[in-house]
Amino acid sequence: MSLPPGFLDDLKTRLSIAQVVGRKVTWDQRKSNPGKGDYWSPCPFHAEKTASFHVDDRKGFYYCFGCHAKGDALGFVKETENVGFMEAVEILAREAGMPVPKRDPKAQQKADRRSILADVLEQSAQFFRLQLQTAVASNARDYLTKRGLPEKTLTRFEIGFAPDSRNALWQHLTGKGVPADDIIDSGMAIKPDNGTPYDRFRGRIIFPIRDARGRCIAFGGRAMDPNARAKYLNSPETPLFDKGRSLYHHGPAREAAGKAQSLIVAEGYMDVIALAQAGFDHAVAPLGTAITPDQLQLMWRMCPEPIIALDGDKAGLRAALRLIDIALPLLEAGKSLRFCILPEGQDPDDLIKASGASAMQKLLDAAQPMVTLLWQREVEGKNFDSPERRAGLDASLRTALKTIKDPSIRSHYTAAIKELRATLFAPKRQNNWQPGSWKKPKKLPPLAGTKSSLLAQQSGVNLTTRLREAMILAACIRNPAAAAARESALERCPIYAPDMAEIHTALLASLHSALSEPQASDALTEMMAQNLGYDPIEHLMALPSLRIHPHLHAKAEPELTALTLQEELVKHAANIGAEQELAEAEQDLDDLANEGLTWRIQQATLARAKATKAEIKGSANTTENSEEMSQNLQKLIDDQVWVKKKQ
Ligand code: UTP
Ligand code: MN
Repeated sequence: MSLPPGFLDDLKTRLSIAQVVGRKVTWDQRKSNPGKGDYWSPCPFHAEKTASFHVDDRKGFYYCFGCHAKGDALGFVKETENVGFMEAVEILAREAGMPVPKRDPKAQQKADRRSILADVLEQSAQFFRLQLQTAVASNARDYLTKRGLPEKTLTRFEIGFAPDSRNALWQHLTGKGVPADDIIDSGMAIKPDNGTPYDRFRGRIIFPIRDARGRCIAFGGRAMDPNARAKYLNSPETPLFDKGRSLYHHGPAREAAGKAQSLIVAEGYMDVIALAQAGFDHAVAPLGTAITPDQLQLMWRMCPEPIIALDGDKAGLRAALRLIDIALPLLEAGKSLRFCILPEGQDPDDLIKASGASAMQKLLDAAQPMVTLLWQREVEGKNFDSPERRAGLDASLRTALKTIKDPSIRSHYTAAIKELRATLFAPKRQNNWQPGSWKKPKKLPPLAGTKSSLLAQQSGVNLTTRLREAMILAACIRNPAAAAARESALERCPIYAPDMAEIHTALLASLHSALSEPQASDALTEMMAQNLGYDPIEHLMALPSLRIHPHLHAKAEPELTALTLQEELVKHAANIGAEQELAEAEQDLDDLANEGLTWRIQQATLARAKATKAEIKGSANTTENSEEMSQNLQKLIDDQVWVKKKQ
């Protein structure tokens, strides 16, 4: 948005900088001389007891004789509220009673619609607050007390209660003359196709969600009954609420982040509240979804290096690892992340309750830079005793590094990774591989310092391996006959990812019985589900790379599914390593498109193909002829299957 000429001058003349600054400092009455527009106070930008901070109200400037901070009213708002230029303009314009110019009439209309909806939410927030004081909310109050939230916190976070009634809020709002459409559009009530509208939030503790400027844009509602269908229920997306672009506790955290020079990103409402109670006001949370690129940008606007403090459970760790891939392409100078992995089974709320604020601070201080986490993700629990495993590691690291767009950051990451890599490969390694065996490689001990981390407890199976295992299993489920034809290869095929291994076992157990059924694939799924439940199988089939694989669709030609199964078995065999006579080749990670690597892997794959082909063919009674097999392998090589492709 461009401002009309003269707008800023006008704004500055209408404003009193002393008034703007006066909200953040206490004037030294003796030293100040308001008559002359001369004000003194202790400096808000550095800790001091004396008043060396000077405001010249007539000139519209401030200057600190101690730390030399200086600027005008806009600069002061930018610094203390931690906002950008335009937002500072808006804040001050509102204060000066000047209309901030709007972009265009449509935008104006939308803005009007949004402010109407925001008003509905504001009234709802007040209603929920009041409800918490009434008799119907006595369970809710007990619950909140049990969770350690005193009155002060309830007030600060405006926590409320939605009574367990079909339409208490609806009645209240319509009673105040709020139009039905506004209530429905604001997400506060749901209108069934043919029926009367009912309240979205019923019998829940209510957390208002406000945007950076403090406007109420949504609510989160927590069930108190541990058996409730959804623990948290949030407002739907509305013209006001875009989940992926909002953060819980955004406004207060932004201000605190400027002061604390830090920002903590937790997973949930209760974590943010517990953190704030423990003195960490600079905390935000996404709203029930994985952190989005937009949310990352919002965080970076508050702090150059937010600390991601995710729950110490598998889901939390997975979220952290996923976040790496989202963040890498967005990295720029002054935009980075740190990760604080909590002890298993604890979120910040639990940790603070169990061990106090100082324990939390310790963990935050020990937060790891992203490059360390990236490295751990690629190496932990894996074994690099063969050239192709090392080449595989280099390829996956290279793929990750390649996604960093900023050249300077990329080169720093590359240097850091090279160093880590040198340490890993420096000592003489044992060779765990035994010819002709399919034994699982021994796990490398985790790196020092990561022993206790959850990361080290994970299986350490890399994503490519897990995906390949998933493809093998999915192909078997789609085409049980093809699976049966390769049964002995399947049986001996090691599956490393623990969740896949479970499916593998169930699959082998049911394969034969399923084949005698008319719809073998459905029968197989059914029988496996009796062992496993449906979730693991559904989860498997829903993996994005599988869903888009044309030969793994339910309707794919059975021959093509069979071919995919065969290919994946070969690739898997090749990947987990047969003896190679190739010389070890140290990879230069600077060279992101390394021809030499490609050649070496080609040689390795070809050499191994000979062995693998014979084995699978001989033992698994396949129908493919060897010509076809080598064509397949050539295709794999041409496609550089070992390089994790961008999806
Ligand atoms: P958690 O389950 O970690 O919640 O979900 P929490 O904040 O620790 O809550 P308590 O301590 O059990 O009360 C993290 C966040 O994920 C979203 C919410 O935003 C929650 O704060 N979530 C969780 C949902 O949106 N729906 C759910 O059913 C569960
Ligand atoms: Mn919790």
